[in-house]
Amino acid sequence: MTTAPAPVPRHLAIIMDGNGRWAQQRHRPRLIGHRAGARAVKRCVEFCLQQGIEVLTLFAFSSENWNRPADEVGGLMKLFLGALEREVDELHRLGARLRFIGERDRFAPQILDRMQAAETLTAGNTRLQLVIAASYGGRQDIARAARTLAEDVAAGRLQADQINEATLGAQIALADLPAPDLFIRTGGELRISNFLLWQLAYAELWFTDALWPDVDAALLQQALDEYARRERRFGLTSAQVRHHANPGTPS
Ligand code: IPE
Ligand code: IPE
Ligand code: MG
Repeated sequence: MTTAPAPVPRHLAIIMDGNGRWAQQRHRPRLIGHRAGARAVKRCVEFCLQQGIEVLTLFAFSSENWNRPADEVGGLMKLFLGALEREVDELHRLGARLRFIGERDRFAPQILDRMQAAETLTAGNTRLQLVIAASYGGRQDIARAARTLAEDVAAGRLQADQINEATLGAQIALADLPAPDLFIRTGGELRISNFLLWQLAYAELWFTDALWPDVDAALLQQALDEYARRERRFGLTSAQVRHHANPGTPS
């Protein structure tokens, strides 16, 4: 008897939280935690490549994180620039396509140029779509989409009654990708913190107390194993879902 392969999420979205506390536990500056967090990102990307996950979206910096102390924001920007300088070639070699979502014009030109260059270099890669949410806020994403449609209506390109889930959704970040199947938040907090509000509508949620710098393949595998055991119903009944999952069953 063969068993069906466990479903692997096509799109994994992660709030990488707990860097500051990881450093605090070691009586080190918060920036040391962010640096350790960057190493965990590499482990996570390797894991996704091994698992055949198609899209990995990482929350690296929220629109609200700009309000942190200036030295932490400055340190994070340095770390971000350093990662762009050092890691992009390797990601390209591995077949990853890099994309950034969020309010780009808040970044220094040097960072912005590197982001654009990374996207251009890796645009043809298909093994893994690696999306970095930086200066990203879910509400801002939805507001920007609404503004685009309002402009279309004002210019006569769209009727107000054509605004619906499909037309609004098409303007939201990552509209061309499958929606996140699995959401992971490390660091023990049970909240979304303005991450992909629209896109997470039917994601399976998984929380862990592990701090992001401690994340490794074994922990990510735990999340995937639990995901494989979940029943995603999308509003249907369990019986309907089981019927759909078995196309040989007569209707
Ligand atoms: C997440 O770790 C990384 C960023 C928000 C940039 P934190 O810096 O939020 O770590 P904690 O939550 O303070 O431990
Ligand atoms: C969410 O973490 C943002 C990122 C991980 C980039 P925060 O640490 O900023 O979230 P809150 O403040 O605990 O909700
Ligand atoms: Mg935090």
